[in-house]
Amino acid sequence: MPSVTHAGIGPPTGPLAEPVIDPFGRAITYLRVSVTDRCDLRCVYCMAEDMSFLPRAEILSLEEIERLAAVFIRLGVRKLRITGGEPLVRRNVISLFAGLGTYLGRGLDELTLTTNGTQLARHAAALADVGVRRVNVSLDTLDPDRFARITRWGRLDTVLEGLRAARAAGLAVKINTVALRGENEDEIPDILAWCGEQGFDLSLIETMPMGDIDASRADQYLPLSVVRASLRQRFTLTETDYRTGGPSRYFTVRETDRRVGFITPMTHNFCASCNRVRLTVTGTLFMCLGQDDSADLRRVLRGGADDAALEQAVRAAIARKPKGHEFFIDRARNAPSVRRHMSLTGG
Ligand code: 5AD
Ligand code: SF4
Repeated sequence: MPSVTHAGIGPPTGPLAEPVIDPFGRAITYLRVSVTDRCDLRCVYCMAEDMSFLPRAEILSLEEIERLAAVFIRLGVRKLRITGGEPLVRRNVISLFAGLGTYLGRGLDELTLTTNGTQLARHAAALADVGVRRVNVSLDTLDPDRFARITRWGRLDTVLEGLRAARAAGLAVKINTVALRGENEDEIPDILAWCGEQGFDLSLIETMPMGDIDASRADQYLPLSVVRASLRQRFTLTETDYRTGGPSRYFTVRETDRRVGFITPMTHNFCASCNRVRLTVTGTLFMCLGQDDSADLRRVLRGGADDAALEQAVRAAIARKPKGHEFFIDRARNAPSVRRHMSLTGG
């Protein structure tokens, strides 16, 4: 596979763009880009065991991804998060990070990623070298057997090793933990204490009904209000107005002097302050994680569009960004609210 050649665009040189504003007055400054729908794990809340993945022709090349990302940066996006699937299983993905890293300080404020951590030991230093400062690492348990069960075959050791490498490379780490009823429910206070010892922040996430999985969503769903109450038996939590532009509500933990965030799509609607859009690896732009409306940027791109035409396509899509999502868990049918899996749009 050829290495990435920055698609001949180069960083923008003019004044920073004013962000595009959606119909509800929200400035779109955050783009999440999924670079693969594949993963080396099969977390039970995320994927079915026998997932089928996209054929190669459907998938944007790294050069195409960089070109599209550059369009968004010109339109005022300041923060890029690379996701998957598992982004670090995509071949040559570090060359994409290197290309995108050249936009830091020239329109882009932050380049970051969400990873399951299994490949971090190999890549942490290279990521830090190209300007990544923070990583979000998904980790739902610290128990090896439970880890193997939740991920269907993963090894906890590889993730812990990846976390050590991240720290050695100077990357700030936030752990993402999905709260799973009857699975890691009893362990969440221990995970919070462990994050305190390691110097990691923690975000707790409610399961979202995205894509068919083999299990019942209703059985997995654990409201974070319940988790917070149990944390309060052991920790002193104080709500803060700290915001990362995301859906998390953050609390400080007096005992660990770190933050814990609660992402509650099911119980607390976070749409009013949404500043983000999501690009899948097929070049489909989703304006909302919880809605099906999308724009096919790959068709525009492969149709030979110049940058102005691409910008126009992005503006037109953002003009359709809906007011909010419509997640709910339908117990009777166990049907997802949106048919695509999280691994396509990347959280
Ligand atoms: N509901 C909630 N979180 C999910 N994730 C993946 N699928 C789901 C889902 N259906 C989580 C991953 C990762 C983050 C990007 O999203 O564990 O931490
Ligand atoms: Fe892979 Fe993340 Fe999905 Fe788990 S949650 S299967 S690590 S993409």
